Amino acid sequence: MKILVVADEREMSIEAARIIGALVRTKPDAVLGLPTGSTPLGTYRELARMHHEENLDFSRVRTINLDEYIGLSGDHPQSYRAFMRKHLFDHVNIDENNTHIPDGMAENIEEECRRYDEIFYRYGRTDLQMIGIGVNAHIAFNEPADCFTPDTHIAVLTESTINANKRNFDRRDEVPQTAISVGMRGIMSTRHLVLIACGEGKAEAVAKSCFGPVTPQVPGSLIQLHPYTTVIADEAAMALCPVFFENK
Ligand code: GLP
Repeated sequence: MKILVVADEREMSIEAARIIGALVRTKPDAVLGLPTGSTPLGTYRELARMHHEENLDFSRVRTINLDEYIGLSGDHPQSYRAFMRKHLFDHVNIDENNTHIPDGMAENIEEECRRYDEIFYRYGRTDLQMIGIGVNAHIAFNEPADCFTPDTHIAVLTESTINANKRNFDRRDEVPQTAISVGMRGIMSTRHLVLIACGEGKAEAVAKSCFGPVTPQVPGSLIQLHPYTTVIADEAAMALCPVFFENK
C-alpha cells in the first residue's frame, strides 16, 4: 500500500486527478470506477479543468459508479446519477452511454444488481477504482457487517451513514434507507485501488482501514489485501495512523 500524505483537500484532489489523468492519457478507453460523496468533488473539478485546459479526452472513457439510492430516479437531484452529471459528466466530453450507475428505480432490484455485476464481467477489471470512505469505514455502501459481500447487492444503510448523508437532503426522513451497492469483488477486482480521504472526521476510519485488522466490521480494511492500493489522505485524515504519528 502506498500512502500519500498531503496538506489538505485541494492537494488530495489534485493528486487523485493527476493519477486518473495520466491513466486516461495512456489508455484513452480506460474503465474508471467512480465514487460519489463530498470527498471526490475537488478531483472531479480538477478533471474538468484538465479537460478544458489540457485537452484531457474522455470520449472513449467508460465509467462504473459504485452505488445508487433505491427509490430515486436518475433525475432526482439527490440521486447519484444527477450528482455525477452535475459534478463530472456535464463538464467533460464523456459519452453518457459509456457511464454506468445502478438504476434505483428498477422494477426488480435483485435483477438490477445482477445486471450491474454483468457490466463488470463484460468490461473485465476496472483500470482504476477510486473510493471515498464513510466515518464508519463503509466503502461504496458496504456497511460494517459479519461478512464481506462480494456481489452487487441491496444495502441497508446504517444510522451513521444516514446521519452523515442527510446533509444533502431537506429532511432526514427523505434520505433513502436502502441503496444498490457494488460489492467487494467489484471494488477489489480493480487494477489500481485509490482511496481518498480528508478531514479529521475520517481519521479513525482511515487508521483502522490502513493499519487495523482486516475485518468486515471495518469494510475499508479489505483494501489492505489489494496488491496495488494508493491512499491519498490529508494530514487531518491521517492523524490517527501510527506511521504518520511516528514520523511527525
Ligand atoms: C456515501 C457513498 C460512499 C462515500 C461516502 C463518504 O455513503 N456511498 O461511496 O465514500 O458517502 O462520503 P463523503 O465523501 O461525503 O464523506
